[in-house]
Amino acid sequence: MSKLSRKLLLSIKLNHLTEAGATVIYSIQAKLVKNKKLKEKLQRFSREENLHMNELNKIIIKYGSNPLPLAKITKVFSIIFTLFSAIGRQRTILRTDIYLEKIGIATYRRQKELMLGLVDNETIEKYDMFIQMEEGHLRWLKEWKENRLDIQK
Ligand SMILES: [Fe+2]
Ligand SMILES: [Fe+2]
Repeated sequence: MSKLSRKLLLSIKLNHLTEAGATVIYSIQAKLVKNKKLKEKLQRFSREENLHMNELNKIIIKYGSNPLPLAKITKVFSIIFTLFSAIGRQRTILRTDIYLEKIGIATYRRQKELMLGLVDNETIEKYDMFIQMEEGHLRWLKEWKENRLDIQK
C-alpha cells in the first residue's frame, strides 16, 4: 500500500516528531503555570498531541515506512525550548502555543491535500480529526489569551 511519495512520507515523519515535541512542551508548560484551569487544559492538550503522535506512527507504518528514530532528540529539544519559554510568563507560553498550533493546522491541511486519492478513507478521517482537534486547541488558546491577558494590559 505504499503509494505515497518519499517527500510526503518524510513530511509525515517530521510531523510525527513535531507531535512528540508538542506532547512534551504542553506537559512541561502545564507544570509551570499556576492557574488551575489553564494547567488542566495544557495537560489535556499534551494527551491529545500524544494521541496524534501515535496515530501518525500507525499511518507511517501502514504506508510502508518507519518513523524517524529521533523521538528522544525531539524531546531534548522540546525541553530546552520549553525552559526558554518558561523564563517568560503566561503570555510567552500562549504566544508560542498559538504559533505552533497554526503551523500544525497548516501542515495537516497541506498533507491531507497531497494524500487525497492516495490513501484510504480511514486515513483521511484521521486527518480531519487532527485538524479539528488542533483548531480546537487554537481557538481555546486564543480565547484564553484575549479574555485573561489582553484585558489586563
Ligand atoms: Fe497535534
Ligand atoms: Fe494542538
